[in-house]
Amino acid sequence: MENDSKKKERIVSGARPTGRLHFGNYWGSIRNWIELQDKYDCFFFIADWHALTTGAEEKSAAIKENTKDMLLDLMALGLDINKCAFFRQSDIKAHAELFLLLSMITPLNQLLRNPTFKDQLRAFYTQKYKGQEGKMKEAEGVVKQLADSFGGDAQALQSDMAVLGFLGYPVLMAADIMLYDAKYVPIGRDQLPHLEITRELVRKFNKTFKTKVFSEPQPLFTKTEIVPGLDGRKMSKSYDNTIFLFEETKSLEKKIKKMFTDPKKLKADDPGHPEGCVACAFHKLYNDNFAQLEKECLAGKRGCGQCKKELFALMEAEISKARAKRAELEKTADIEKILAEGAKKAMAIANKKVQEASKAVGIL
Ligand code: TRP
Repeated sequence: MENDSKKKERIVSGARPTGRLHFGNYWGSIRNWIELQDKYDCFFFIADWHALTTGAEEKSAAIKENTKDMLLDLMALGLDINKCAFFRQSDIKAHAELFLLLSMITPLNQLLRNPTFKDQLRAFYTQKYKGQEGKMKEAEGVVKQLADSFGGDAQALQSDMAVLGFLGYPVLMAADIMLYDAKYVPIGRDQLPHLEITRELVRKFNKTFKTKVFSEPQPLFTKTEIVPGLDGRKMSKSYDNTIFLFEETKSLEKKIKKMFTDPKKLKADDPGHPEGCVACAFHKLYNDNFAQLEKECLAGKRGCGQCKKELFALMEAEISKARAKRAELEKTADIEKILAEGAKKAMAIANKKVQEASKAVGIL
């Protein structure tokens, strides 16, 4: 194992503890972690500090519980804590220390231009002001002003999102990655601008302090299936269209009944259009006979009700296994011990690295 991990290339990736995992999270990135754990020397962590960068007040009450839930979810899905270093970001103070050092060389302009800055602001407000159109309109204005110029407008500066932590999100993420000399970073495409900022900070740090302490990471995109939410839009908590990975039987059934299907297919024998249909998208993941089902749908030989009923049976069979595993882990897993062991592995690398960085800066 020791020798093995020396030969393997290093990857690092984090996920914010936003609560229970849904299918969008899973197919977007989490599944990759589990697939990669044998092939790479993996450093995976729960980014609890990052979770605080948007709406610290609302998030703070649940963050510890969410971290625990996420670890249990991941283990129930097959993440093996013996194969990787699995830790909580806030346990490794070196992340904060390197963030601070990097903040000295990060141009504000670069952060203000960051495209995910605007997207995340919008997602935050969509969730916060769910259903309140007036509020949402107001928020849109704030988002625009903030993104255009963080400092130019008094109203924007009073927004609860106008905090240093949020603007510095990508810098903390750069620190997360740089501390471990990661060769690759498995991420979704939405995170690519952040990785670009990381790469720029690596170059800038090395150049400014005439050193080679840090190396430039590459993104690692693994094949991801896009699963739509119940209404056909992207699956997201802010749209209220999610299915959780460990969804309870009753609500799973209810949610599947609500799934958006082909609006042109009014009767069971109308020919269907599987490509825009949410029930079909899920059948594709769960049904070994999807090709046959697709054929029947196109030929008007099956109705959406039947499709949904079969889908429920397939998903319930899978999910009930996962639920049982998770329930077992909830009883047996010692979360704090697991996190402490992960922290030990992470610190062995991160503390050394941040020392080298401090030496390069000249303060050590
Ligand atoms: N920003 C990432 C996300 O939302 C989470 C994250 C934090 C991360 N630090 C990281 C991902 C370091 C990869 C590497 O999804």
